[in-house]
Amino acid sequence: MAATDGNGTVLGIETSCDETSAAVVSGMTILSNRVYTQTEHGQFGGVVPEIASRNHVLKGTPVVRSALEEAGVELEDLSGIAVTQGPGLVGCLLVGLSLAKGLSWATGLPLIGVHHIEGHLFSAFIDQDGFEPPALALIASGGHTDLILVDAFGQYRYVARTRDDAAGEAFDKVAKLLDLLAPDEPTMGGPRLSALAEEGDSEAFQYPRGLAGEMEFSFSGLKTSVFYHLRKLSEREKEARKADVAASFQRAVVDTLVEKTIDAARSVGVDRIVLAGGVAANKELRSHMAEKAKINGMDFRVPEFKLCTDNAAMVAAAGAYRLAAGERSGLDLNADPRLTLPGVSEFPH
Ligand code: KG4
Ligand code: ZN
Repeated sequence: MAATDGNGTVLGIETSCDETSAAVVSGMTILSNRVYTQTEHGQFGGVVPEIASRNHVLKGTPVVRSALEEAGVELEDLSGIAVTQGPGLVGCLLVGLSLAKGLSWATGLPLIGVHHIEGHLFSAFIDQDGFEPPALALIASGGHTDLILVDAFGQYRYVARTRDDAAGEAFDKVAKLLDLLAPDEPTMGGPRLSALAEEGDSEAFQYPRGLAGEMEFSFSGLKTSVFYHLRKLSEREKEARKADVAASFQRAVVDTLVEKTIDAARSVGVDRIVLAGGVAANKELRSHMAEKAKINGMDFRVPEFKLCTDNAAMVAAAGAYRLAAGERSGLDLNADPRLTLPGVSEFPH
């Protein structure tokens, strides 16, 4: 059996969208993190909830098995099972919950339901040599763009949210406008757009920075601006300027995210910043945030790439914390597609 610490060894299960993931962590240390990304949605241009749920049914058990195997642990070595309870696609969440509940019932291990965003928050503290809250977290994913003040684990205050699109959603929509979406990955436009942006000039076009100076995000104006810009170009021009459009768009998103995060950290009085969620995998965002944090004397942490997008290690880490705090979920735990973050309040502006 692998070495474990006093926080306990926890199996995490994440099935909120189109990634079937299982992981084993010991406190904030990852022992395994298996992620199966479904490729069956390609022809439909987006995640089909029914197909996603069926795939979770097919892949759930093998993914859990391989996570346990890679960690070198048996079910009886675990001290708990953590599972994403919400938000997410309800059918998908139910598959993960059924799997976790079945394992909990069969083994007698305690069960804990985890909020998906709390998982992303924890991802920024995994394997970071004891780096701890208070910190300001920017969670930027396909469904969220939130600035959350982490006063302590389990105690959160919303500082800013998006008024419309999430940052990842804007990346996905603009990737679609630029015909970049891969047939087997119709929702992961971000990585393709940022790869193309590396070949372009980020100063080529000045796209709008939404709600400058305000503690709120907005990305729909930016997306619309790219849409109308592309409409004015001929097919040939579009092909020739694609990389410049991608680079200029990315610059506008990154500028907005970095500026608001640094301003917010100053205004709430913290000097630690963390970045998490799928968009945290963006290299430009990582490097610009690191640069601006350094200039402002702030400590900045970002998870390794694999921990940015949806994965079960983050769910297991959040679950390990809650289990260690004595929390337990019953076998009547239900999926909640609109679950609110536990321990959260609004930051007074
Ligand atoms: O956290 P995540 O895996 O799923 C959600 O909970 O939404 O985030 C997925 C989002 C997608 O919108 C994807 O395009 C974006 O994160 N993303 C990126 C990059 N990698 C993933 N966006 C920009 N640059 C990237 N390198
Ligand atoms: Zn996510």
